[in-house]
Amino acid sequence: MSSRTVIRGGLVITASDEIHADVLIEDGRIAALAAQGTPAADTFTADRTIDATGKYVIPGGVDAHTHMELPFGGTFASDTFETGTRAAAWGGTTTIIDFAVQSVGHSLREGLDTWHAKADGNCAIDYGFHMIVSDVNDHTLKEMDHLVEEGITSFKQFMAYPGVFYSDDGQILRAMQRSAENGGLIMMHAENGIAIDVLVEQALARGETDPRYHGEVRKALLEAEATHRAIKLAQVAGAPLYVVHVSATEAVAELARARDEGLNVFGETCPQYLFLSTDNLAEPDFEGAKYVCSTPLRPREHQAALWRGLRTNDLQVVSTDHCPFCFVGQKELGRGDFSKIPNGLPGVENRMDLLHQAVLDGHISRRRWIEIACATPARMFGLYPKKGTIAPGADADVVIYDPHAEQVMSAETHHMNVDYSAYEGKRTTGRVETVLSRGEPVITEREYTGRAGHGVFTPRSTCQYLN
Ligand code: URP
Ligand code: ZN
Ligand code: ZN
Ligand code: ZN
Repeated sequence: MSSRTVIRGGLVITASDEIHADVLIEDGRIAALAAQGTPAADTFTADRTIDATGKYVIPGGVDAHTHMELPFGGTFASDTFETGTRAAAWGGTTTIIDFAVQSVGHSLREGLDTWHAKADGNCAIDYGFHMIVSDVNDHTLKEMDHLVEEGITSFKQFMAYPGVFYSDDGQILRAMQRSAENGGLIMMHAENGIAIDVLVEQALARGETDPRYHGEVRKALLEAEATHRAIKLAQVAGAPLYVVHVSATEAVAELARARDEGLNVFGETCPQYLFLSTDNLAEPDFEGAKYVCSTPLRPREHQAALWRGLRTNDLQVVSTDHCPFCFVGQKELGRGDFSKIPNGLPGVENRMDLLHQAVLDGHISRRRWIEIACATPARMFGLYPKKGTIAPGADADVVIYDPHAEQVMSAETHHMNVDYSAYEGKRTTGRVETVLSRGEPVITEREYTGRAGHGVFTPRSTCQYLN
C-alpha cells in the first residue's frame, strides 16, 4: 500500500534553490519535483493534495542543540521529549539532536540508555543524540568508537562547570585525538570555567547577587580564550571542532582566524544571542533570571558580529540550545544568588520564525535561512540529504510556511512547557501552517495532528561538512 501526497503551487526554498515547483511525496519520502504547470507536474496524482499557493515549501528545521529533561542545578529542564518535540513541530522543526549525558563515574552507555528511555515512544518528530562526555578515561574513549558506529557521532565537552561537566585540557585533547581517529565531532562549550568560578565567588562576596552579574562574570574574553584554546587543542589533535552557542564578538574572531587558516573549525550561535542582550538580564524584580544561560547574553553590540559571521560563513549553524526552566519554582532557585539560577532558555518553537524575521530585516537571504537552520545542521551532523533539504529520496519532512501571516510571540499561545516566553510580545511576520514528518501531517493548517511515538531515533553518519 503506497500513500501519495502532492504539494501544489508553493515556492520551494532549499539552501541552494528557490523554484516554483510541485512536490510529490510517496511513502514518506520526496519522490519528485516538477516545475509548476509543466506536463511532468500534471502527472503527479495523489490521495491528498496540499495547496501551497502563495506559501513557501521548505525543509523541516533541524535543531542540532536541545536539552529535553536535562538535569541541571538540582532540577530538570521543563520540556519532556513529548512536550518539547510537539512544540518543535509547531515551530517548523522536524528533527532535533538532543544531548545524552554521561555522569561522572558512569559509562557513556549508561547515559545513552537513560536518554533513549526518556525519548523512546514519546517524540512527535525524529531525533538523534549527541553524547556529553563528562569523564574521559580509557573506557569512555573506547566507548566513543562504539557510539560512532551506532550513529551517535558527536560528543560535547565542557571547559566550564568545574565539578559537573568540566573536562581539563588533557581530557579534551585525549577525546579530540580519539575523534580524529573514529570520525566523531567534538562540540565544545568554550568558556574558561575555572576563571569564571573565581569571579563568581568574588562577585557574591561583594553582594552582587542579581541575575545581571551572571553576564558580568562570564566575560566575553573568557569565551574567546577558551575558544582559542579549544581550536589549538583540536589543531594539535588533528581533529575538527564545532563550538556551540557562540555569543561574543571576540570568539567569532577566533573562529574566523582559524577558518582563514583552512582549519575544520565550525561555530553555532543561537537566536537568544541574535535577538536578546544584557538589557534583558538587567530587567528588574528578578525578571532577568529568565535570560540566564551560558554562554551569557552579551551587550547588544555583539549582535552585529554574529550576523556578519552568519553571512560570511564563519558561523554555520543556528540552533536553539533549548533548555527551559520555569520562572516559578525553577529560575527562582537563584533568588539572592545568581549562580544558583538554572542555566538555559526556551526557544525550540521560535527559531524558524525568528530567522525568517531576520530575512525580512535584511540580515540574511531566504536561502541562507534554510542553510543555517536546516541544511548545514543536517550536513554537520551526518543527516544529509535524508534531512535538511527537499530533493528526491529525502525524508518528506516539509513545512508549508506562510511568509505574510503575522504573529506575536507569547507564553499564552506557545506550546513549550514553560511559564514564560523569552520573546514575550515580539511581533514577527511569517508562520508555520502545515508540517509533515516523513509524509505524516504533524501540524495541519495550525492544528496539531501528530502523535507521541511517531518520531524515531535517527542514527547519524559522521560529519559531512569537512573542508
Ligand atoms: O545555559 C545553557 N546553555 N544551558 C544548557 C547547557 C549548555 O551548556 O548548553
Ligand atoms: Zn554506572
Ligand atoms: Zn553549553
Ligand atoms: Zn546546550
